[in-house]
This record gives sequence, structure tokens and C-alpha cells, in this order.
Amino acid sequence: MNIPYLDLKKMTALHGEEIQQAVSAVAGSGWYLQGEAVRLFEQHYAAYIGTTHCIGVANGLDALTLTLRAYMEMGKLAEGDEVLVPANTFIATVLAITENRLKPVFVDVLEPTLDLNTQALEQAITPHTKALMLVHLYGRCTYTPTLSNICQNHHLILIEDNAQAHGCQYCGATPSEGQPSHPQRTGSLGHAACHSFYPGKNLGALGDGGAVTTNDTELAQMVRTLANYGFSEKYVAPHRGRNSRLDEIQAAVLDVKLRHLDSENNRRIALARTYYNNINHEAIRLPKLMDEGSNVYHIFPIFTPHRDELQQHLFRHGIQTLIHYPIPPHQQACYKEWNHLHLPVTEQLAHQELSLPLNPAMTDEEVAYIMDTLNSQL
Ligand SMILES: Cc1ncc(COP(=O)(O)O)c(C=O)c1O
Repeated sequence: MNIPYLDLKKMTALHGEEIQQAVSAVAGSGWYLQGEAVRLFEQHYAAYIGTTHCIGVANGLDALTLTLRAYMEMGKLAEGDEVLVPANTFIATVLAITENRLKPVFVDVLEPTLDLNTQALEQAITPHTKALMLVHLYGRCTYTPTLSNICQNHHLILIEDNAQAHGCQYCGATPSEGQPSHPQRTGSLGHAACHSFYPGKNLGALGDGGAVTTNDTELAQMVRTLANYGFSEKYVAPHRGRNSRLDEIQAAVLDVKLRHLDSENNRRIALARTYYNNINHEAIRLPKLMDEGSNVYHIFPIFTPHRDELQQHLFRHGIQTLIHYPIPPHQQACYKEWNHLHLPVTEQLAHQELSLPLNPAMTDEEVAYIMDTLNSQL
């Protein structure tokens, strides 16, 4: 068998006809930016996530950068303020902070939950701490009432990085309600949330795309303004903005794929359950299994000290795997000022993580073959 990590052609073909129709409708319309397709997608995605606003932007990094920028323009953040961020994240979360001349404060995570270490988080809070970026990495919901309480007690802005968790749900109690509530989607749990529609994501475009969701009308307005040159109205710029727009073709494609997101996530969940039930190698650790719906398995990570041998073994048997991520942000060459930090769990994960193929276009046979190949090794 030959199993690529991700077969985007196959995944697009799952809804090929609908996507083709949506693309050709926009192509034939003569209207390619700031039109009806974006307006509709924003409306549908906000309703899906459970927020009053959704603003389409050019990509996930811009969603993060513009959200922080908007809080600065609103006077709620200022240069040099500290922003708590999980050390175990994709570099974009941190780039958005440093791009705005804010200071990232890296907080380690815990195994096997991969959640933030709340004790370390509380210890890291200073009078300069103003926000927490919460990253639902790998598709796992990392929100907890404890985190929310910490944010409330310290008046921190809570921003979710939902780039990897479209459709994921928080199924527990919220602090205000105190008891189990109806599930809420990630992307609606903090003050603002940032989404990426990079093609390989659970909700992926046929190019770049991103969005910000929020219930805060002032923030929504500011993000929209900043993403459109800083214009409050045509050619009037009270803010220094940029051009960061979701285009009509991507919005039309996303609108089609949004309709299939829950069923695709359910397929991911079913395949992940098969992995959990059958991976039984003693040298392999799996993240803690979460309640159904609280993990939409954007990535299926496994951890082993024999990561590189295992990756080669799988490769020799036609199975492509990836590593998310081999170098944590604080150890990157571009962040020399933080290279001295020691965040042991994150650093161990970076040495031991291996991502198995998992996507809705995969067959049961492919998953069975991967598990057999995996269990027979090491
Ligand atoms: C956790 C996380 N944050 C941010 C991003 C940035 O999104 P984009 O690639 O659309 O800029 C990504 C994905 O690439 C991501 O995985």
C-alpha cells in the first residue's frame, strides 16, 4: 500500500461536483472580493461556531495578528504587554504576538492531556500579563473552566487559536453556569478566536483563508477595518491597516465544505477510535482520550522515544507520516532571546511526536494496514 499523509485531491473529490459549481458560479459572476459569497460564508460560519460576528481574512496568521492589533488599537493592549502562550504550538501563534511587539510568555504543557500546565501558567502571570492565547492543538479542545477563571481573576483577554479545531466542542460546565451546559464550539469560548482555512485543515479552502469570530462588536469592526487598509469608510483611514481579505472563490468553497464538516469530523473520530482501540505497542504513548466531540482529530499524534526509526519503518512500508512540530517556537533561530528557556514537556514532545495519517478520505483498510505495520515494529 502507498498511503500519503494527506491526499488533498481525494479530499476535494469527496465534494467535487458541489465545489466545481461553487467555483464556477463565482468565476462567472464577475465579483471576486467583498461580495455575496464572503458575506454568506461569514454568516454561516458565525452561526455554526455560535458567535455574533465572523470576519473573513486572508489566512490564519493574519487572523491572529489582526486580532491582537485590534486590541492594541482599542487601547486594551499596549506594546510590551505579556501574552501567555502554550510552548507547544505552531509558530504562527507566537509570530502574531511578536509582530505586534508584544511579549510571548511560554507556558509548558502536560502529558498525557497536552493541556496547559495551569500551575506554571499562574506562576508566569505578572502585572504586565494582559492576554492568553489558547491553542486547540491537534484538534483537541484545551479550554477548561479553571483557565477561564484564571483569565477572569487576572482580567486577561482570552483568545483562542482554533486553526486546528473547526467543529470541536467543549462539553463541560462553564464557570458562569457552574454545571454541565449544552456543548459550545471552540471558537466561541473566549473573547475572540482565530481560524485558519489552510487546505489541509478540517475546514480547508483551495488556497489560503482565515477568519476571526467574536461576540464583541467593537472588536469585529476593528478587525474588519484593519483588514481593509484601516478604512472606516472608503478612502478614510483612521488606522494603519493592511490588505487581508478572504476572497469570494475561497468563501464559496468553504461554504460548501462547512455543510460537510460535521460528517467529516465524525469520520475522523471513528478512525481515531480505531487507532485508540488497536495501537498496542508498549513503546508508543497516545494522548489522553477525550470525550466524544472534544477532539476533532485534525492531527493524530503518537509519542515514542524511537520516533525516527518508527518513521523510517512506516515509510519503507509506504506510509507517510509528519512531525508536528520538530522545533518548538522558543528554540527557533528567529527567537534567539528565548532559546535559553527550558520547557521540558514541550521539548520532549518535539523529539518524540509522530503524526499518523488521518483524514475523512481514508479507508478502513488503510487504517488497519497502518496499525499492523505500527504494532509489528520496534
Ligand atoms: C495552530 C495554528 N495556528 C495558526 C496557524 C496559521 O494559519 P495559516 O497557515 O492559515 O496562516 C496554523 C496553521 O497553519 C496553525 O496550525
